[in-house]
Amino acid sequence: MSDNVILEVKNLKKHFDLGHGRVLKAVDDVSFTIREGETLGLVGESGCGKTTCGRTCLGMYKKTSGQVLYKGKDVHALKGAELFAFKKDAQLIFQDPYASLDPRMTVSDIIAEGIDVHHLAKDHGERTERIYGLLNLVGLNKEHANRFIHEFSGGQRQRIGIARALAVQPKMLVLDEPISALDVSIQAQVVNMLIGFQQELGLTYLFIAHDLSMVKHASDRVAVMYLGNIVEITRSEELYSHPLHPYTQALLSAIPIPDPVIEKQRENTRIRLEGEVPSPINPPAGCKFAGRCRYATDRCRQETPKLVDVGSDHHVACFTVNR
Ligand SMILES: Nc1ncnc2c1ncn2[C@@H]1O[C@H](COP(=O)(O)OP(=O)(O)O)[C@@H](O)[C@H]1O
Ligand SMILES: [Mg+2]
Repeated sequence: MSDNVILEVKNLKKHFDLGHGRVLKAVDDVSFTIREGETLGLVGESGCGKTTCGRTCLGMYKKTSGQVLYKGKDVHALKGAELFAFKKDAQLIFQDPYASLDPRMTVSDIIAEGIDVHHLAKDHGERTERIYGLLNLVGLNKEHANRFIHEFSGGQRQRIGIARALAVQPKMLVLDEPISALDVSIQAQVVNMLIGFQQELGLTYLFIAHDLSMVKHASDRVAVMYLGNIVEITRSEELYSHPLHPYTQALLSAIPIPDPVIEKQRENTRIRLEGEVPSPINPPAGCKFAGRCRYATDRCRQETPKLVDVGSDHHVACFTVNR
């Protein structure tokens, strides 16, 4: 991993206008950086704005305000050849491999689409070689090339989605819950495969998950998102060993431990996450987590805590921590 920042997100906001004066603040002032070759995990419960954040970073959604810089260039201002190059460099792996792959296309056509658009093969022979090579890379083989998506399992479909993304020789992948829709028994295989590609190909990942256990091994740093904001961000091992935000602590204590004795002991100290994520249309004033937080004070219900550096590259937005 180098020190070069590849993606810089500054005060990014993405609000959806729902009409009748109602605005849904899906991403509400988010800042982070990702260095080249690094994996940043982005976690939070469903509805916290992870997908919106990932897609806005890729320029798939217009931003409301703030900036996304890819190699120093404003993603939302790219045009012409620079936009074309960015669309090759930065790829999205979808959560749902069923919905994201065209059922009328053969696997070969799905994988070759980007190769053709970006002229990455000089002739038909090289194109075929590349398709076979990519199938091999993701653990499939050339016999699969002329089949259709419905003939494959969920895990195989996600492998095809990964091959499609890698076909254009990207630099950065936004992985939007790449294993959530898969059978638990194959989730680790797919994550390990993704980690392997990152190391071999020097890729940069924004790895989105709703569950902290899923990003634990894959991430160098982890950002925890709650209702449109990052509430804590730090190195992966630091987050797991010293979680500071009550929301992070609650997410961590929701991860089951396979040892029944430890699990039983933990019952007493477990921080339960009660209630649901409030609506981002009318989010509560002050800290948005206050309504679910056992430590909340009057201040938390009135003022919004900022993300503060508490040392050793650990940032947290919580008044009970930043005393
Ligand atoms: N295209 C859209 N139009 C309006 N609201 C949206 C749209 N996409 C997402 N949202 C809303 O934005 C919030 C964040 O959604 P999302 O980014 O999908 O969260 P996550 O990926 O963390 O589950 C949710 O309240 C969701 O309903
Ligand atoms: Mg999502």
